[in-house]
Order: sequence, then structure tokens, then C-alpha cells
Amino acid sequence: MEKESFYFSYMILFLMIVAWHSLASTRPRCHEDERSALLEFKATFFTRKPPCCDSDSATSNEQAKIESWNASTGETKSDCCSWAGVECDKVSGHVIGLNLSCTCLSGKINSNASIFRLLRLRSLNLAFNDFDCQIPPAIGNLVSLSHLNFSSSNFMGLIPRSLGNLTRLVHLDLSDNGLTGTTRPLENLTRLVHLDLSDNWLTGTTRPLENLTLFTHLSYDSSNGTTLSFLGNLVQLKYLSLRDNMLIGQIPSSLGDLVQLTHLDLSFNLWTGEIPSSIGNLAQLTYLDLTHNQLAGEIQPSFQNLLELQFLALYSNQLSGEIPSWLGRLTQLEFIFLSSNQFHGAIPSTIFQPPDLIVLYLDKNNLSGTLKSDVFSEAKKLNELVLSFNKLSVILETNITHRYKSLGLGSCNLNDFPEFLQDQDDLIMLDLSNNNISGKVPEWFLDVSTENLQYLNLSANFLTSFAQDPVIFKWKELAVADLRFNELQGSVPIPPPKIEHYFMSNNRLSGGVSPLICNLSSTRMIDLSDNNLTGFIPPCLSNLSGTLEVMSLRSNNFIGKIPNLNANSCALIMVDLSYNKFSGPLPSSLRDCDNLKFLNFGNNQIRDVFPSWLGSLLGLKVLILRYNGFHGLIGERADGIEFPMLQILDLSHNIFSGGLPSKYFKHWTAMKVSETDLSSYIGDAIKPTWIFYPDATFHYSMSVIAKGIQMNYSKIQEHLALIDLSSNNFSGAIPETIRSLKQLKLLNFSNNMLSGALPPFLANLTNLESLDLSRNQISGEIPQELTQVTSLAVFDVSYNHLTGPIPQSRQFATFENNSYKGNPGLCGPPLSRKCGDPEGPSPSSPTSEEDEDPGSAMELDWKTVSMGYASGLVIGVVLGNCLITRRRAQRLVKNFGKRKQRRRR
Ligand SMILES: *[C@@H]1O[C@H](CO)[C@@H](O)[C@H](O)[C@H]1NC(C)=O
Ligand SMILES: *[C@@H]1O[C@H](CO)[C@@H](O)[C@H](O)[C@H]1NC(C)=O
Ligand SMILES: *[C@@H]1O[C@H](CO)[C@@H](O)[C@H](O)[C@H]1NC(C)=O
Ligand SMILES: *[C@@H]1O[C@H](CO)[C@@H](O)[C@H](O)[C@H]1NC(C)=O
Ligand SMILES: *[C@@H]1O[C@H](CO)[C@@H](O)[C@H](O)[C@H]1NC(C)=O
Ligand SMILES: *[C@@H]1O[C@H](CO)[C@@H](O)[C@H](O)[C@H]1NC(C)=O
Ligand SMILES: *[C@@H]1O[C@H](CO)[C@@H](O)[C@H](O)[C@H]1NC(C)=O
Repeated sequence: MEKESFYFSYMILFLMIVAWHSLASTRPRCHEDERSALLEFKATFFTRKPPCCDSDSATSNEQAKIESWNASTGETKSDCCSWAGVECDKVSGHVIGLNLSCTCLSGKINSNASIFRLLRLRSLNLAFNDFDCQIPPAIGNLVSLSHLNFSSSNFMGLIPRSLGNLTRLVHLDLSDNGLTGTTRPLENLTRLVHLDLSDNWLTGTTRPLENLTLFTHLSYDSSNGTTLSFLGNLVQLKYLSLRDNMLIGQIPSSLGDLVQLTHLDLSFNLWTGEIPSSIGNLAQLTYLDLTHNQLAGEIQPSFQNLLELQFLALYSNQLSGEIPSWLGRLTQLEFIFLSSNQFHGAIPSTIFQPPDLIVLYLDKNNLSGTLKSDVFSEAKKLNELVLSFNKLSVILETNITHRYKSLGLGSCNLNDFPEFLQDQDDLIMLDLSNNNISGKVPEWFLDVSTENLQYLNLSANFLTSFAQDPVIFKWKELAVADLRFNELQGSVPIPPPKIEHYFMSNNRLSGGVSPLICNLSSTRMIDLSDNNLTGFIPPCLSNLSGTLEVMSLRSNNFIGKIPNLNANSCALIMVDLSYNKFSGPLPSSLRDCDNLKFLNFGNNQIRDVFPSWLGSLLGLKVLILRYNGFHGLIGERADGIEFPMLQILDLSHNIFSGGLPSKYFKHWTAMKVSETDLSSYIGDAIKPTWIFYPDATFHYSMSVIAKGIQMNYSKIQEHLALIDLSSNNFSGAIPETIRSLKQLKLLNFSNNMLSGALPPFLANLTNLESLDLSRNQISGEIPQELTQVTSLAVFDVSYNHLTGPIPQSRQFATFENNSYKGNPGLCGPPLSRKCGDPEGPSPSSPTSEEDEDPGSAMELDWKTVSMGYASGLVIGVVLGNCLITRRRAQRLVKNFGKRKQRRRR
């Protein structure tokens, strides 16, 4: 027994030792220096309020992670190896992994940060935090790193050279930051398998992108490629994304050396030239995305080798030629996006052959020929087929049994509602726009896919009515309904409460607007313009103000007071009630609509004084009040906040009196700065959120009298500046304060009672294209200085009291008699009255001594005009020619001032 008990005790002891050992090896205590480094790191930051990363991303808010780190010395709590996000080596107990993604950290991180003392780190994830600084060079100390993730952490500036020390890196994610310059520091990281640099500002040069003038210097040596040529060593790469940077030049053919690549994304850059044929070497590719560049030429025949390809996206380029019929032999293809290029010819029937084809977008090309539905109904898995905006004729059999989710059959030469739609209950998106469908909308159509349809476009057909009146759309999920440009009669159809964008303009709808419209709880845009609608606007419309951004009721016959448009919160950006019969004053509740950019109340019967209270709307760009009964002096606000962003002001044809609003001219900052980004239009920012099918965009439109004719602007360039105060009772002199409004293109003071001299300081308005001071009481001579305004195309001072000689040089050699008539004291060409000779007429006609006048070639198209005139402002031209994405525009804002707004990805 003794012996047994001895052995027993021995066994126990042995087991205890084993247990202790295994315990120690699974739960090593952390090292004190590393523990304090972690705590020190934690203390460097404050944590913002969650959410800190996108709610739809896999990592939700994990702020709690770091908050649990504890300085107290309690047994387990003090063991940093047990802390959330910390991983220790099982044997040595050293910290080898740190995952603080999405912990809401906020604050700068520099090379002294304690984290850089964790020299054994193999994996570091700081994604979705806010560091707002450069990547600290000390990152190069962490030479054991194999995984590094700084995605969406608000790092900016160049990629530090020291990152090149991390030769063990396998995964590197620097996506969605503000990084600039080249990828050269990464050129020797030959073990990289996964490299994500998407959503940055990489340019391929090391010139800092401190300000926009960079664009003026971007002279590229595109021949030897840019960023990518530095990546040619990374032959292990399987995943490479450079999406959404600013890479210019040709795609370097050395890319073809990265033969392990399965995922290649070069989209949303500025690549030009042809796609290099070497991409055909990447035989492992399953994913290839080159969208949104300026690539030209044909689809490379070498693509025939990409037999593994599942995802091919080439949309928004300038690719041409025919769609090669061999494309269908890439049998793994599931997604094909070729939209918005210049492909021509027939659609090869082979393209429908890949057995797993799910998505095919061919819209916005120049494809022609006839496509029969039995060809595409062969593709058994195809559920998104978009063919709109080509020159196709599509013949649809009635026996299509296949179910689709997206069908784009716009401009496909259809004459009827396709009958097979009756059974398409999975449809989410349907485009039948720009066809020849005429007559009544069949009753069955209103029952198609009532559970699923979200996007419906029937615009630009010849539809006349619905089976019921008023019709209530039964599509529960409908978010976008576009029925513009038809011949629809009857009352306004009632969309479902979920509608976001409701476009019914340019029809013949009549009657009143039903109060049912006030149930639209999600609506962002309502466009009922250009119909025959009558009656009062239901006052409950203000119930929509929390979501409604755009409301256009232009060109109808609405009467009565303009209702209160703002209940509690006001989302309104654009209100156009012009060309109706509204009366009464403006609704003062608009004063709290801080987002307003565009207000048009023109051509109504409004009686009111000038709404100086709108001056506090810091974003208001367009204010049109013309042809109403606005009267009185133009009052100025006591607080001095006077329409700082105003660019377009049309008060013409009212009965305003007193002096011109000279103090206002001083405050209109937006008309002073010369802005040269010509690529954007007012309203660009508000678009339906349809990714591949953004055709339901809504541009602010307006009409103004410009250069003597009524101009209809279907889009308003973001920086157009004009003032029309004509046909009022303004009196007094032209105030000097106007000289600062340098951005002005049109100025019309015609038909008032202005007096005093024609001031030489008008020559300071160097962008002016049209100046009308006719029908006033202006006296004195025409100052020679005005000849300096070389952009001037229209000049009218007729019917004043001007005297003396007419300037002859530059633009003034082009103006004709009509510009001057009704001023008996003026002399010299083009008038027949000679100067210094009050009697004899002179037969002289205008003679041009100057160079070809740039102004006269001008089209009344602001884009062309301003490009031509943006002398020395290459920025604008570059931006205008480049594809600047909306995200990019947001980032511009972010990097040049404002704080980064966390975006949904
Ligand atoms: C980086 O971290 C984020 C958040 O955890 C994650 O979504 C992303 O996939 C990571 N990147 C890589 C390359 O693993
Ligand atoms: C990469 O390696 C080459 C050859 O050793 C060297 O010349 C180059 O400077 C290295 N690049 C970087 C960024 O360290
Ligand atoms: C489109 O194709 C037609 C012939 O079908 C051709 O005349 C036209 O120039 C092409 N347009 C473009 C933009 O390629
Ligand atoms: C539909 O009809 C056409 C001709 O009428 C025929 O060629 C085709 O095979 C039919 N398709 C199906 C799926 O029945
Ligand atoms: C509009 O809002 C008011 C007050 O919140 C409410 O009484 C009314 O029922 C609403 N009208 C409609 C049509 O939703
Ligand atoms: C200025 O406004 C008047 C109407 O008030 C219009 O008749 C005239 O054509 C306008 N001038 C120019 C140059 O557009
Ligand atoms: C305004 O014009 C005057 C006279 O032509 C000129 O001397 C002055 O420099 C101009 N001022 C500005 C700011 O352009």
C-alpha cells in the first residue's frame, strides 16, 4: 500500500507539473513592458462616439474592445494577453497581434508612439479609426509584421519609405485614406500577396498634393508607366487594388508579370491609352475591374487567355470596336459590365453562353442590330440584363419564362409593353424609357412585381393614361419612378410611401395634387413640373419637409398662397415653383431650411418685399423672383450675413425701388472668387443611389434672359454668376462695390432709373460676357477702360444720356448700332454721326484691328464658354476632362478643409 500511495503521489505531482506546464503555455502572462506600452497607447487617444465604422461592414463598432483594457493589477485583468484585440505568442507571451479596428480611436499617432515598441508584432490592424496624420516612419521598426491594416484610418501624405523595411509583409491594406505620391516604398515587399491601396490620392509622382494647383503641373511621363511599374517585383501578389486613386498614364505592361494575380482592380483612375495585351498573361485572374478610366482601343484579343475570369468590368471608358464573340468562350464569366463605351456592331449571341452568367450590362454604347429574346433567354442564370441606350431593336417573344431582376430595355425600339413582363414578379429594376410605347398603360402592368420593383423608368414614350384615375401604384418597394416626357392625362398617380424620387414632369396631368401625397414618408425628390395641374397645394405638404430635398412644381397653374414648406426639420435643397399663379407672401418658414441652394419663385403673382431674411441661408446659390409683385427698397440685414454664396440673382420685372443694393454687392463672396471647376453642376450632389443605373439624375434647371434671349438651362454650372435687376424702379448711381464681383458673366440693369456716369470700374468685371444698362438715365462718356473686358459679347447702353466718342478697340469693334441708339450725344462708328462733326454723317463701318475676337465665337453654353476663358486656369480644364467621381469630390472637400465625414462604402 505504501508503495502504491507513493506512486500515487508521484503521479499526482507529475500531473500537476504537466498541468502547470500546459497552463503556462496556453496562458502566458504578458510582459510588463508590453503591457505598459499598450496602456500608454490607449491613453494617447480619446474615443469618439460610435459608430466609427460602417454599420454594414463586417466589423461593427468595437469600441468596448480597448475600453476593457485595464491598468488595475487584478489577477486576470492585468494580463494583457487576455485583453480584447491582443494576441500573445503561446510560448513566449510576447504580444504578436493587435487588432484595434473600429475602436473609435481619435488622435494623432507619431513615431514615438508606444505601439512601435511592440517589436514582435506580426499582425497590426488599426482600420477604421481617425489618426488624421501621416503614417509614422517608425512603422518600419515593426519588421516582424506580416499583416498590416490601416484601412480607413484617416492617414494622409506619402507612404513612408520605411514601410519598405517590412519585408515580411504578406497582407497590406492602406485603403480609404488620403495617401498621396507613389507606391515606390513598396517595391521590394516581394512577399506581398494581398495589396489594397484603393480610395487614396496616389498619383504616381511624389509631388505633394497640398493644393489643387498640382493639377497644373501634372506633366506626366506616361511612357514608363506610373505607380504600377514599381510593383513589378511583387510577383507573389494575388490581390491588387488601386481603385479610386489619381493614377495617370498608360497601364504599364509590366503588370503582366504578376502572374499569380487573381484579383486586379484599377478602376476609378485616369488611365489612358490601350489596355496592355500583357494582362492576358494573368491566367489566374478571376476578377478584373478597369471601369471609370479613359481607356481606348479594342478589348485585347489576349483576354481570350483569361479562362478563369468571373468578373469583368470595363464600363465608363472609351473602348471601341465590336464586342468580340470569343468573350463567350470565357466560360467562368458571371458578371460582364461593358456599359458607357463606344462599342458598335451587333451583340454576339455567344456572349450569352457562359453557363453561369448572372449579370450583363451593355447599355450606353453604339450597339446595333436586332436581338431576339430567344437568344438571351438561353442564359439560364442571367438575371440582370441591361441593353438601354444603344441603337438596338429588341424582339421579345411572349413565351419568355425566365425570371429577371433587372431589365434595361430603354431605346430598344419597343412599341408595346412586353407581355412577358406579366410573369416577371422578381423584377427590381425595369427600364422601358425612350421607346415608342403609346396609349394606355395596360391594367396588368400595374400588377407586375408589386412586391419587388424598386426602379421604374417609362420616360420618353407616348403613354396617355392609366386604367384608373387616380391610379395608386401598388409597387410597395418602389423608390424611383420616372415617367417624365409622356402624354399622360388625368390626375397625378399616387406613389407608394417608400418612393424617394418621383418624376412626373412634362406630361399633361391635370387637377389638383391629392393630400395623399403627404403620406410619402421617404420622398427626396418630387418633380411635377410642366403639367396642367391646378388648385391649391395641400398644406400637409410640409409634412414631407424632413426628407424632401427637391420639389419642382414649375409650369403648372397652381393658385393660392405658397404653403408652409417646413414643418419641423427641413431637408429642402431646391424649390422651384416658377410659372404658376401663386400669390401672397413667401413662406417665412423657409428661413430655417439651412440646406437650400436653389429657390425659384419667378413668374407668379407674389406680393412681398425683398426676402432679406433668406440672407442667412449660407448655401443659397440661386434666387429667382422675377415677374412678380415684389416691391419696396431692398433692405439689408442687421447681422451682416447677406447671401454669401449667392451666384444667380434674378429680380427682374418687379417694382423694387430705391438704390441698387450696394452693400449686398460687398457680401456676395461667391461671385468674387474665381472658381474654375467646370465639371460640376448645381445639384450634382443629389442623385438617386442607383449605382449602375444613375439615369434618374435630376439637374436644377432654369431659364434666364441672357444676351437678349431666353435661355433654358437644363443644368446650371456650379460657378455661373449672374445678376438681373432689370425692369424695376431702381434709381441712383451704379455703386462701386459691384467691382468686386469678378465672377459675374451677366449683368442686366436695363429699364430702371439709374443715373450718374457709366463707371470705369466696370472694367474690373473681367469675366463679363453680357452687360445691359439700356433704358436708364446714365450720362457722360463711355470709359475707354471697358475695352479691357475682352470677354464681352453683348453690350447695350441704348436709351441713356451718353455723350462723346464710342471706344473702338477690341470687343467694341464688334458692337452694332443697336447697342448705342437713343443716345443723341454719342458719336463715332458704328453710329453714322462723326465725332467733332455734329452735322455730317459718316459712312464708316466697324473695322476690326484686333485679333480674332474670342468672345464672338462663344456659344451660349457655359461649359464651352468658361473653358475657353479660363486663361491660366488649367486646373479647371483638367478637372473638366477627367472623370472625377462623386466620392472624389467629397474627398476634395475633406482634404481641403473640412473634417472627414465617415462614409458608407
Ligand atoms: C482590414 O480591416 C478591416 C476591418 O477589420 C477589414 O474589413 C479588412 O478586410 C481588412 N483588410 C484586410 C486586407 O484584411
Ligand atoms: C529595393 O531594392 C533595390 C535593390 O536592392 C534597391 O536599389 C532599392 O533602393 C530598394 N527600394 C527601396 C524603396 O528600398
Ligand atoms: C454609331 O454607329 C453609327 C453607325 O451605326 C455611326 O454612324 C456612328 O458614327 C457611331 N457613333 C459613335 C459615337 O461611334
Ligand atoms: C419561344 O418561341 C419561339 C418562336 O415562337 C421559339 O423559337 C422558342 O424556342 C420559344 N422559347 C421557349 C422557351 O419556349
Ligand atoms: C401631417 O402632420 C400633421 C401634424 O403632425 C398631422 O396631424 C397630419 O395628419 C399629417 N398629415 C398627413 C396627410 O400625413
Ligand atoms: C435685360 O433685361 C431686359 C428685360 O428686363 C431684356 O429685355 C433684355 O434682353 C436683357 N438684356 C440682355 C442682354 O439679356
Ligand atoms: C480695377 O480696374 C482698375 C482700372 O482698370 C485697375 O487699375 C485695378 O487694378 C483693377 N483692380 C482689380 C482688383 O483688378
